[in-house]
Amino acid sequence: MPASTTPTNPGASAAPALENQLAKKAEAWSALFSEPMSELVKRYTASVDFDKRLWAADIQGSLAHAEMLAAQGIIGAEDHAAIQQGMAQIRAEIESGRFEWKLDLEDVHLNIEARLTELVGLAGKRLHTGRSRNDQVATDVRLWLRGEIDTLVGLLTELQRVLVNQAERHAEVILPGFTHLQVAQPVSFGHHMLAYVEMFARDAERLTDARKRVNRLPLGAAALAGTSYPLDRERVARTLGMEGVAQNSLDAVSDRDFAIEFSAAAALIMVHISRLSEELILWMSQSFGFIALPDRFCTGSSIMPQKKNPDVPELARGKSGRVVGHLMGLITLMKGQPLAYNKDNQEDKEPLFDTVDTLSDTLRIFAEMMDGLTVKPEAMERAALRGYATATDLADYLVKKGLPFRDAHEVVAHAVKTATAQGVDLSQLPLAELQKFDARVGEDVYQVLSLQGSLNARNILGGTAPAQVRAQVARHRARLGA
Ligand code: ARG
Repeated sequence: MPASTTPTNPGASAAPALENQLAKKAEAWSALFSEPMSELVKRYTASVDFDKRLWAADIQGSLAHAEMLAAQGIIGAEDHAAIQQGMAQIRAEIESGRFEWKLDLEDVHLNIEARLTELVGLAGKRLHTGRSRNDQVATDVRLWLRGEIDTLVGLLTELQRVLVNQAERHAEVILPGFTHLQVAQPVSFGHHMLAYVEMFARDAERLTDARKRVNRLPLGAAALAGTSYPLDRERVARTLGMEGVAQNSLDAVSDRDFAIEFSAAAALIMVHISRLSEELILWMSQSFGFIALPDRFCTGSSIMPQKKNPDVPELARGKSGRVVGHLMGLITLMKGQPLAYNKDNQEDKEPLFDTVDTLSDTLRIFAEMMDGLTVKPEAMERAALRGYATATDLADYLVKKGLPFRDAHEVVAHAVKTATAQGVDLSQLPLAELQKFDARVGEDVYQVLSLQGSLNARNILGGTAPAQVRAQVARHRARLGA
């Protein structure tokens, strides 16, 4: 058993009798407590069932802390070595499922520390020098979340790549663009896909930006006021690859704004996913018939044999509510908390964990599903024609022939009324008929009235012309490295 001779540690000179008493202490916090916790209270206050998920971050943080304690001469080199060796064993035990998590030990931090002490004795008890669970848990959550953000940004990149591929494949495919869910103007299906690429690109940017504020070190704040030990906080931050040290101990242990900020970004991602889901569901319905999703993303009905339901997008739309709810939970949790740490903060974990899980599953499944999406161009074109999607083009044509736009708007309304009555598209009205609305209409009007003509005409930065879509595809590919 490694024994330290470091004089700065009060535990080092404890008498053997007291040592024994301390070793026996299983439940109570200290000699101050005269009765054990009731089972109900134990279950109510314990977090180990869910926060054991932080174990790797907890060990990582503890090792960085111990390394610094040794470098500063606060614990001895033998203690440091013992802590390293004990933590290696604990890691192996947890990874192999042999580690025994105890509810009595409340949370992940106390479970790991108690096991360390079991394994290496006094060195284990010295680990907590200059530290509190308050700065420890804040550090753990930040370390864990940092890693999850990196995974999520990778998943967002993958989803964008899939959508960019679909955009390139379908740059020429014409979809009726909607406003108010009424046919408005023809758009390229590729352009439509790229709208979501823009959303997910901003989402990734938001996560990356939030990461900078997640990646700061609370450790060294101790319980709330800092500590009297000569800790080197900058060193711990460097060891952990953090971008800075929290500069105020009260703030360091108490605020969870970094988690709220992340949740807000996550909620927005789910809202974008939910909008896409809604479109997929509509497009897949018989009334639209614009797309098909691969069978592996759909389910049937137990009673109606003809049904193929878009369960995955429906569930994703539903799960967006859950993630938005977690954001509400977290932000409300913070409200009304006085400085510094309060146990309320233990409630940050379940919503945060569920947000990360829901989001990463959703992004993974969407990348796969969108890759397998089949597009039905004829159905989209038919719908665009039915909805007089080129009416604006006719108005623009008349403006170019000298009519003021407001008058052109009115003229085209009459033309649409006539076409509707005859059950034909504008492009199917004979020239003589069109000239009744305005004499300036010539043979060249039919280029303008075709869906392709309308699409190609919108050859402006950010517009839907296939040439623009291809330029955007190239830009995204360069950005995404694909
Ligand atoms: N399990 C606690 C949490 O998640 C750790 C910090 C507890 N600190 C305390 N003073 N009780 O917040």
